[in-house]
Amino acid sequence: MFVSAHYSGEDLIPKIQNNEPWKKVFGPVFIYLNWAMDSDNPLLLWEDAKAQMSIEVESWPYNFPASEDFPTSDLRGSISGTLLVKDVYIDEEYMSVDSAYVGLALPGDAGSWQRESKGYQFWTRTDEDGNFTISDIRPGDYNLYAWVPGFIGDYKYEFDIRISPGCDTDLGGILYEPPRDGPTLWEIGIPDRSAAEFFVPDPDPKYINKVLVNKPDLRFRQYGLWDRYAELYPDTDLVYTVGVSDYRKDWFFAQVNRKKDDKTYQGTTWQIVFKLDEINQTGTFKLRLALASATAAELQVRVNDPKANPPLFSSGVIGKDNSIARHGIHGLYWLYTVDVSGSLLVEGNNTIFLTQPRATTPWQNIMYDYIRLEAPPRHHHQLQNCSILARK
Ligand SMILES: *[C@@H]1O[C@H](CO)[C@@H](O)[C@H](O)[C@H]1NC(C)=O
Ligand SMILES: *[C@@H]1O[C@H](CO)[C@@H](O)[C@H](O)[C@H]1NC(C)=O
Ligand SMILES: *[C@@H]1O[C@H](CO)[C@@H](O)[C@H](O)[C@H]1NC(C)=O
Repeated sequence: MFVSAHYSGEDLIPKIQNNEPWKKVFGPVFIYLNWAMDSDNPLLLWEDAKAQMSIEVESWPYNFPASEDFPTSDLRGSISGTLLVKDVYIDEEYMSVDSAYVGLALPGDAGSWQRESKGYQFWTRTDEDGNFTISDIRPGDYNLYAWVPGFIGDYKYEFDIRISPGCDTDLGGILYEPPRDGPTLWEIGIPDRSAAEFFVPDPDPKYINKVLVNKPDLRFRQYGLWDRYAELYPDTDLVYTVGVSDYRKDWFFAQVNRKKDDKTYQGTTWQIVFKLDEINQTGTFKLRLALASATAAELQVRVNDPKANPPLFSSGVIGKDNSIARHGIHGLYWLYTVDVSGSLLVEGNNTIFLTQPRATTPWQNIMYDYIRLEAPPRHHHQLQNCSILARK
């Protein structure tokens, strides 16, 4: 489906106004039929189809479409550059980033490409030095966007980019500085816009899809996993203790609702317990909440007071992804930063309460991508920046 709300919702449907001219080429579409004898291993058909697909990818954009709406390769342009990342709390040097996603989409804010479907997008991934080249781009005006597995947030190159027929543009080095205010106190998960690294339960034996058994990377593709939460946590919700718990085993891959005996559903509150030895009471701690998916859900955050009203933070109702109902592990990406005043924290054990109260269906849920608590900035933060500049 090229244009559909089935997965990720209305956000992915292009919005066309009355009398607004709009044109977009989908295709060409290639359909490949192969065959095998009864005596052949039928899986060879699959291998053969994949080999043919690689040939087609190399042949794109084809030169046979005669339509003026489908420019040939020589009437397209290309763009190249090197993406580097700076996060002084990880490394004082610029870091080159392998396999980062770099793409062109219609001009917009950082991250707007996620919901953009009216225009064309052209994406690639960086090599181990952060180099990228995107070829065969249709002429037009774009922004250049990127996101980097291992880091939170969205990059946008500050200038608009005009692609002209037959022109190659080299941006040289471009720098992404992901959101960061202070050193990491703790983190849960891997910032890669997916919940795949968390605990995915075995399916209910009634629903098991045997093709997916023994495929550790595809455990989430089973039907009905949402109801497994209530079996693991029948009365009380998940509690994650920093330094003791392991997110691969102790963090359920989605904050789903609890199924009750009467077949209704109930919202949940998860806890993150962590110990602080010393606190700067006048400083601001930053809680980074990266979500891999949300479906008609609300995320409320409370710190050390489970009844605080209003909560310290609420996302409001967000998301129409349907990822869990479609057996997916990510939808659209959300990133929230919650300021936590040092005065809310205590020396010793602290608890962050993550509440998802919306519970009319089994499929309302949040999939976390990654959570991090940052201490207030270090004093020598500025000094570190200066020393980098001095060395250059
Ligand atoms: C990345 O580009 C630089 C500069 O052109 C080049 O020296 C380096 O070999 C490239 N890296 C890879 C992996 O090709
Ligand atoms: C505490 O945080 C405040 C605000 O960030 C800062 O001005 C102050 O220097 C910090 N104190 C210490 C001891 O780090
Ligand atoms: C703090 O939490 C840890 C881990 O749950 C627990 O072992 C310890 O007893 C708690 N300490 C206090 C003072 O409550």
